[in-house]
Amino acid sequence: MNILVFGKDGQLGKAFQEQLQHSSFQMGNMIRFVGRNECDLSDTSQITNLLNTFQPRLLINAAAYTAVDKAETESDLAFAINATAPEVMAQYAASHEATLLHFSTDYVFDGFKQGSYTELDRTNPLSVYGKSKEAGERAIQHAFFDDSQGQYAILRTSWVYGDGGNFIRTILQLAKERTSLQVIDDQYGVPTSATWLAEVGCYLTIDGEKPKQFTSGVYHAVPLGETNWYGLASLVVQSALDACQQLQVSPTAISPIPASGYPLPAPRPMNSCLSTNKLQIELERLGLVSKLPHWNTPWDEQVTAYVKQLSKN
Ligand SMILES: NC(=O)c1ccc[n+]([C@@H]2O[C@H](COP(=O)([O-])OP(=O)(O)OC[C@H]3O[C@@H](n4cnc5c(N)ncnc54)[C@H](OP(=O)(O)O)[C@@H]3O)[C@@H](O)[C@H]2O)c1
Repeated sequence: MNILVFGKDGQLGKAFQEQLQHSSFQMGNMIRFVGRNECDLSDTSQITNLLNTFQPRLLINAAAYTAVDKAETESDLAFAINATAPEVMAQYAASHEATLLHFSTDYVFDGFKQGSYTELDRTNPLSVYGKSKEAGERAIQHAFFDDSQGQYAILRTSWVYGDGGNFIRTILQLAKERTSLQVIDDQYGVPTSATWLAEVGCYLTIDGEKPKQFTSGVYHAVPLGETNWYGLASLVVQSALDACQQLQVSPTAISPIPASGYPLPAPRPMNSCLSTNKLQIELERLGLVSKLPHWNTPWDEQVTAYVKQLSKN
């Protein structure tokens, strides 16, 4: 089958490039990766032309407008990329019996819930970015509701890190430059490895030369466990020291501060922990849990391995 991956230069797009190199995904498939240069997602005619030319049976949308604070003043662009572009992809997939794998965010929630969010919880985004991603989710669901020949999965995830700019790399850089750090300790979520997420996405949607038949819908996709930004920063610094990195800061020189002490243009949810029970059940139904190499690896083990890997480079 033809597989088209949007967003090849982002953290998740790069992780898909790595995953899809595995022979089990390569065999019998024609895989094309596109970035902004090949297809600008703010221009719907470019998306339509590419889809009609390449005729993918599986569309993977790893692209997004992810500048959370900038989105507050670039609303039109954020909505074009996060809502209109996925809508065009979904309309194509729904009318061509194709499969769409799309990614969304924990920022669709307002964060006032006690405990983890499930897929049944009401969305109520606080920021323009969150609103644009929510609009993308709705557009996809609407396209498949109207004309449901194809299938779709929207994987909602959080705190992504991979090959690109992210919180962990920022902390490592600051830890090399400063002798003390202040990090927010009252916003909770789950750090998610782009590699782990791409692995889940590939297993869920690819069955040799065909799309895997799964139940269309929204799924929460994050590793086991949860933390806050301070907890994550502390682990990152300790892991870097354990991997013999030269830092100015020690874990005891990191101070917790409330989010109110670090105001940003876009409001963030205080709690964006996501429950993955629905995805666990679907993966079990498809017989995939035992096949997914890292499904049960908790977030902290994955972060430690990532920092160790960064330390080697
Ligand atoms: N990062 C997070 O913490 C986080 C958290 C929750 C959910 N998510 C979701 O996870 C998914 C992957 O995120 P990520 O971390 O991989 O994001 P990322 O590293 O920022 O990558 C996004 C990619 O989208 C591309 N893109 C942006 N505007 C475009 C346009 N007009 N035309 C074509 N391509 C365009 C970017 O291209 P350029 O490289 O040319 O800029 C970039 O390669 C997204 O759906 C995001 O909303 C991310």
